[in-house]
Amino acid sequence: MSMLQRPRRLRQSAAIRGIAQETHLHPSDFIAPLFAVEGEGIKSEISSMPGYFRYSLDLLQQEVLDLQALGCTALLLFVKVPDHLKDNEGEEAVNPDGLMQQAIRMIKETAPDMLLMTDVALDPYSSLGHDGIVEDGEILNDESVGALAEMAVSHAQAGADFVAPSDMMDGRIEAMRIALDTSGFQNVGIMSYSAKYASCFYGPFRDALDSAPVDMENVPRDKKTYQMNPANAIEAKREVELDLLEGADMVMVKPAMAYLDIIRQTKEISTVPVSAYHVSGEYAMIKAAAANGWLNEEEAMVESLTAIKRAGADLIATYFVRDILKYLRNA
Ligand code: PBG
Repeated sequence: MSMLQRPRRLRQSAAIRGIAQETHLHPSDFIAPLFAVEGEGIKSEISSMPGYFRYSLDLLQQEVLDLQALGCTALLLFVKVPDHLKDNEGEEAVNPDGLMQQAIRMIKETAPDMLLMTDVALDPYSSLGHDGIVEDGEILNDESVGALAEMAVSHAQAGADFVAPSDMMDGRIEAMRIALDTSGFQNVGIMSYSAKYASCFYGPFRDALDSAPVDMENVPRDKKTYQMNPANAIEAKREVELDLLEGADMVMVKPAMAYLDIIRQTKEISTVPVSAYHVSGEYAMIKAAAANGWLNEEEAMVESLTAIKRAGADLIATYFVRDILKYLRNA
């Protein structure tokens, strides 16, 4: 046949496919989530996240150095708080010698050039497993915002480069910006979880931190009054626009794979970098299928991360961070 257009011509060899490739992954595209625990000599695997670990600070230090050696440039720090330090107000979150604050100081001393971002939300500290303060079956917005702004300042005092509010309270970005500025932290940035959905894909993360909402009367079992409805896209534009107006330095979409349309839409309206969180359940799905021999793990990882970047993510937080950095090194 004679045809004017033959798209397959650009796919006929690895060389031509490489030239025609539109999206490339780089080590600086990734954020490594880290889970710190109290104690010493602890490296404990999260059962629903095979190959991913919680570390006590002595071992976390080596993990940070290893990630840096692999080319990782950004970290996102979470802590697992022991039950006896949890309460409804999350008081421990602002302890200057708390686990988070100690971890921040250790990491900034160990790897000063890495971008250290810290999770700001009450759930790891909440005895009720919510991102804000609970009263009469409600997650209080304005009281929670006050607590979160103090938490952000506490992280900045310990040395965090960026705070990453993952709570979805209204008005928290502006409150944090003002609190940081008035405390002298004008250069500490905010990566806002702007379009964060009430997703089932966070299950393994809640195992990792033992942070799920508790089963108690007058405590909501889910986070649907603050996290977004997975059925909504226009509302995500509103959330992103508000966070930009309130001073966010980066905006995030979370989860990633089931929300590629939201990533694309966010990239089109955002005037700051867009990140996406490839969350714990997305990691667990690939791991479980691969363990059963149903998917090739490396191919599933590369395809997923490439799709997230193609959709518009400038940065991707992923538990595959070590594997993808090793893959890129050998590619
Ligand atoms: C809570 C928080 C969650 C995640 C990050 N911060 C869980 C939740 O909202 O319940 C999920 C991350 C993941 O699943 O990998 N503030």
